[in-house]
Amino acid sequence: ANVAVIMVGGPTKGTRFRPLSFNLAKPLFPLAGQPMVQHPILACKKIPNLAQIYLIGFYEERDFTLYVSAISNELKVPVRYLREEKPHGSAGGLYYFRDLLMEENPVNIFVMNCDVCCSFPLSDMLAAHLKYKGIGTLLVKKVSAESASEFGEIVADAETGELLHYAEKPETFVSEWINCGVYIFTPEIFLAIQGVASERNNHGTLRRVSSFEALHFTTKSTQADFVRLDQDILTPLAGKRKLYTYETQDFWEQIKTPGMSLKCSSLYLAQYRLTAPDLLAKGDKSNSAKFVGDVYVHPSAKIHHTAKVGPNVSISGSARIGPGVRLIGCIILDDVEIKENALISHSIVGWKSIVGRWARVQGVGDYTAKLGITILGKLFVVMQRESHSY
Ligand code: GDD
Repeated sequence: ANVAVIMVGGPTKGTRFRPLSFNLAKPLFPLAGQPMVQHPILACKKIPNLAQIYLIGFYEERDFTLYVSAISNELKVPVRYLREEKPHGSAGGLYYFRDLLMEENPVNIFVMNCDVCCSFPLSDMLAAHLKYKGIGTLLVKKVSAESASEFGEIVADAETGELLHYAEKPETFVSEWINCGVYIFTPEIFLAIQGVASERNNHGTLRRVSSFEALHFTTKSTQADFVRLDQDILTPLAGKRKLYTYETQDFWEQIKTPGMSLKCSSLYLAQYRLTAPDLLAKGDKSNSAKFVGDVYVHPSAKIHHTAKVGPNVSISGSARIGPGVRLIGCIILDDVEIKENALISHSIVGWKSIVGRWARVQGVGDYTAKLGITILGKLFVVMQRESHSY
């Protein structure tokens, strides 16, 4: 059998996602109408003999209870949320649940970061992984030299695909090839993680630490059970004929900010054209709204036939879009009401918010910039006050 693990992280890392993360765990935020984590989950359909999908993170159990039971039913593959009581790092989290992960006696363990947006080419990766016969295969992509430094930079052998060198977010340029955060490992990876953890333990006993030091300087990276997949595992294993790379030519982005979630929502909408055209709004009936480009509309949303929607818009459940409304490049969350002739572009409108008539809510539209988009959180109201009271 094979198993899949999606690393979902936890709330302490979600600050850049405020105010949206006040109301929803980031992995559940909808991109193109489906929770962020659902895109890698659905990609797991491409894995042969898949026994289980695990989500590992340190969010509250209850944040994921409803979601995992719904998606398990839909997929007919059990999806379980495994909660760490504290963060162990991306490799430490895997290792913490090794006994559970090994229960199905998996041949391969697929590991995916939750906060990446790509086509998750898992079957092609698996074919490459089986050919390489290493203990791990990484998905890699060529990006611009300027943006590479935000990621793990890699050097691979052009012929054999072997990972020769790995540098996590290096200060000086190493390579334009980056680690996409999608891996296939054999169970041997647990031995490598165990090696790092026990080396740290020995260190702790050899080097006597004063109690003051222990109290004030125990950083995450010196805790024996905090192990990062990238710098602690991939870096030392590079160049040892254990790790290999598989290059993707498809789209790939990282989702650390709400701006990038707008960008990734449109990438997934574009992907639907190939993978799930039925999810895209058609607007072919005479009484339906005008749709431009890629648009997703939840079946329970109501859109007035004089509204114009798109490109790159996704509208969640029970939203009401009034007459003459114009929507461009935005995510409209559940139960939002947009009143007549309002215009919304490059924005995220939070749950149960109301945007009044003739309001213009406009973002700049540069999704990688700090100030690129406009965000209304849950229950925001943008509308004219009653004039007689002033
Ligand atoms: N369960 C759990 N526990 N998950 C964690 C923990 C943890 O303690 N720490 C991080 N994660 C999850 C995050 O939610 C994310 O999905 C993934 O592990 C990696 O997160 P980070 O370790 O914070 O690294 P990063 O996102 O800055 O960069 C990594 O991913 C890039 C691709 O998106 C690195 O591996 C880079 O090299 C890579 O380019």
